[in-house]
Amino acid sequence: MEPLPRVIAVNGAQTEVGLPKAYLDRLEATPPTVGRFLGIRRAGSLLIGMIVEVGIASPGAARDHGFHATAQLDLLGEIAAVESAHARFQRGVTNYPAIGDPAAVMTSREVGLVYDISGRETVNIGTLQQDSAIGAFVNVDDMLNKHFALLGTTGVGKSSGLALILQEILATRPQLRIFVLDGHNEYGHCFGDHTNVLNPRNLKLPFWLFNFEELVDVFFGGRPGGDEEVAILSETIPLAKGAYTARAGSDRSVRRADPKSTGFTVDTPVPYRLDDLLALIDERMGRLENRSTRLQYFKLMSRIETVRNDPRYAFMFDNANVGGDTMADVLRQLFRLQPDGKSITLMQLAGFPVEVVDSVVSVLCRMAFDFGLWSDGAVPLLFVCEEAHRYASADRSTGFGPTRRALSRIAKEGRKYGVFLALVTQRPAELDPTIISQCSTLFAMRMANERDQALLRSAVPDAGANLIDFVSSLGTREVLAFGEGVALPARLRFRELPPDRIPRSEAVSSATRKSASDDFIDAAIERWRGAMMTYKRASESIEAEAEPRPVKETGSRLSPDRYRLLKRPTDGPPDFAASTAQRTLK
Ligand SMILES: Nc1ncnc2c1ncn2[C@@H]1O[C@H](COP(=O)(O)OP(=O)(O)OP(=O)(O)O)[C@@H](O)[C@H]1O
Ligand SMILES: [Mg+2]
Repeated sequence: MEPLPRVIAVNGAQTEVGLPKAYLDRLEATPPTVGRFLGIRRAGSLLIGMIVEVGIASPGAARDHGFHATAQLDLLGEIAAVESAHARFQRGVTNYPAIGDPAAVMTSREVGLVYDISGRETVNIGTLQQDSAIGAFVNVDDMLNKHFALLGTTGVGKSSGLALILQEILATRPQLRIFVLDGHNEYGHCFGDHTNVLNPRNLKLPFWLFNFEELVDVFFGGRPGGDEEVAILSETIPLAKGAYTARAGSDRSVRRADPKSTGFTVDTPVPYRLDDLLALIDERMGRLENRSTRLQYFKLMSRIETVRNDPRYAFMFDNANVGGDTMADVLRQLFRLQPDGKSITLMQLAGFPVEVVDSVVSVLCRMAFDFGLWSDGAVPLLFVCEEAHRYASADRSTGFGPTRRALSRIAKEGRKYGVFLALVTQRPAELDPTIISQCSTLFAMRMANERDQALLRSAVPDAGANLIDFVSSLGTREVLAFGEGVALPARLRFRELPPDRIPRSEAVSSATRKSASDDFIDAAIERWRGAMMTYKRASESIEAEAEPRPVKETGSRLSPDRYRLLKRPTDGPPDFAASTAQRTLK
């Protein structure tokens, strides 16, 4: 009979196995090498070890016992009662191997007992790399409850892998709501009828849902706001909120509402009117004597007007004055709280003005978390963030702080309130490490960069660390899976998606359809200009205008009278806070 591999040394969780030459020769096509599993028989169980090192047996004990080579194994788990119909896999080992226990490369049946576990709690995402007959399953609840991340260089199949995972989750967890930040508008066709697509044309995200930092970011076009202007805003916003609520309650006028009794902060998500805000700023401006201070107020007002009148910001400022309290509708629209079967929402970010994307994302992250928090997790929600390094950067001096904080809050506390996170990034080393460390299931695709690999090494538990050496040589669709969602760390291959379900950007797909037709080029130019032009007007022109220009040139809605108020003080203001203004200007 052919001699079997046998245990020759045991040391904590590591075990050394001697490999006879005849055995190696027989397995020439599929040699026991690093990353593969060996099973060790012990008392009716099969102990599962991953090979982390192999080598020719040096002269000594192993050679003396007839072994040609040795393999070091990390013991990872155990299949109890392996020969019976009740064979069951568990992580960790209860029995340790002893010297002389027989070992062998695991059979397909044995590997299948570990990975090929279809059932209500699992979904199939592909096959094992070592044997394509064996399905690769992940445990949905384990993966969701403690967040997951998909990492890898550009073009290796992250978005496709994500689409596949989400499609599978949708099929088995219809009650779960999924919200995807789709940075490149590429998932629109991936989920069929389940999809609710939001874009700047149909999104309604009223400005009053933005917290103070987010709103400042919008008004100042993504740049830090001037101290004085920010201070004016921080005083007037709570007053405008108080004014609105007071009027909604009784029919009192704006000015007479007592701001001190309202208890609103700059961040309380209650409606207010932009006109009230402008009126309050204007009123304060009117009381000032110093012309240069007054200029700050004017700049702020014209900044607000410019953004409000910019058609690209219509999603925030439509109905800026008469919208009423639409918070419930907004939540319903974002998180699909109506039972219409559309359980996935794609937030297509590519059409938004570039300078506003950060604050929009911040509002959305915050609302996802806060809704979970204040509803005690009534509706479980998976929040999916593509290009996560953009929104939660490891370098605190780049990116938008409020978005990072909002994501980090979901990462740290979300699971308590039924809010789960899925992150995708091509630059793991640039993603805030405290956020990635909260992801208990990791799917690592090809990664060549040393820093990214180092990050992965620090995020993966010891048991799988040896697999990481493969990460730079993985092919497209190949992935190393680690953590709670998978039975054992594994190298697997995502299932191939049908062509109509592969994520691809709408611009690219229409480009291939129409090839180089003029229509397409025109559309591209329009989008391009749309994204660049108004931005300049919205933020930079205001900086350039130390002296305000006449109304029709700025496009501002400031009334001619108010303009005159600043430009030629002695003319006297005919309307609006007239008496105070007149007094101070003379
Ligand atoms: N599971 C899959 N099924 C079918 N095709 C795939 C799959 N994974 C990847 N591909 C192919 O590889 C291409 C790139 O994949 P994908 O867009 O998912 O990569 P990515 O990692 O998200 O890239 P990027 O970093 O640029 O976003 C796809 O357009 C598709 O042709
Ligand atoms: Mg992608």
